Amino acid sequence: MKGFILLETPREKLTKEHYGTQRLLEVAEKRGLDFQLIAPRQFELIVTRDDKKSILIDDKPVELPDVVIPRMGSDTTYYALAVMRQLEQMGVYVCNNASAVETVKDKLHIHQVLAYSMLPTPRTMLAKFPIDISVVRREIGFPLVIKNVTGTHGRGIYLCESEDKFSDIMEFIDNNNSKANIIIQEFMQHSRGKDLRVFVLGGRVIGCMLRSSKTSFKANFSTGGEVASFDLTPEIEWLATETARLLNLDIAGIDLLFDESGYKVCEANSAPGFQGLEKVVGKHIAEDIMDYIQLKVGKK
Ligand SMILES: Nc1ncnc2c1ncn2[C@@H]1O[C@H](COP(=O)(O)OP(=O)(O)O)[C@@H](O)[C@H]1O
Ligand SMILES: [Mg+2]
Repeated sequence: MKGFILLETPREKLTKEHYGTQRLLEVAEKRGLDFQLIAPRQFELIVTRDDKKSILIDDKPVELPDVVIPRMGSDTTYYALAVMRQLEQMGVYVCNNASAVETVKDKLHIHQVLAYSMLPTPRTMLAKFPIDISVVRREIGFPLVIKNVTGTHGRGIYLCESEDKFSDIMEFIDNNNSKANIIIQEFMQHSRGKDLRVFVLGGRVIGCMLRSSKTSFKANFSTGGEVASFDLTPEIEWLATETARLLNLDIAGIDLLFDESGYKVCEANSAPGFQGLEKVVGKHIAEDIMDYIQLKVGKK
């Protein structure tokens, strides 16, 4: 089997942050599969109805791969999406596909899809500048969380405990960039400093862990949160697999927030890391992903 992993970072510059990508390459090598790490910008994107068998990489024609695994998550650029769409059109299995990756880059879009299908999500609104505090107080209330529509690793997420703080920060944002896309979201008190990360692969949950932080309301592993195993319940399983299904994700990292008596879906990641999860559930996530892809592509 021939595969491409799409990432802007070249192989020699991979860091701890790219643990998932490193593991996938390692497993592919161990299995004797021909996997290459390629940056979307290495592709020459030419749209024509001719030649459907090869593509140009570094200006040289290259045979199409069987599978492409994009690992850029919310950093996926327009160029990368265009490359993924092109490969899909040419019959390559892109896992996750461009449309799913594009949807989950947008945290508001995720909530729109989920709430429409009656899944529990925190009450969320899109900021409109200048901000009308009375509407925010009425619709969301305090404390609340503000987030960039696109972002990852807990960056660009801020907890506003009071109206004063909220007014200050919104004024600051408005002055710097009144076109910023910011969402205002109900703060899930019971989830302060903790949440669940559920890994879904091909419609099945393959790992679930509790993430917690002693220093922040954010529980992200990559910002120093701790991880521990957490028993799967039918509710967690259903929420995570439904979220992945509705968002069309073959591989998904679903974040669940604790509610008074259950959970709410926080977000979905299209290129979830799995260093924390491999630590907690044993080192098999990358193997599972390769098993799944080999099954789908039907090649060894
Ligand atoms: N509405 C919320 N209420 C409570 N905690 C939240 C809320 N939204 C996010 N968090 C915390 O912040 C973390 C990061 O938020 P998330 O939306 O997953 O963004 P990122 O893409 O940066 O991971 C979550 O894992 C969770 O711990
Ligand atoms: Mg998250």
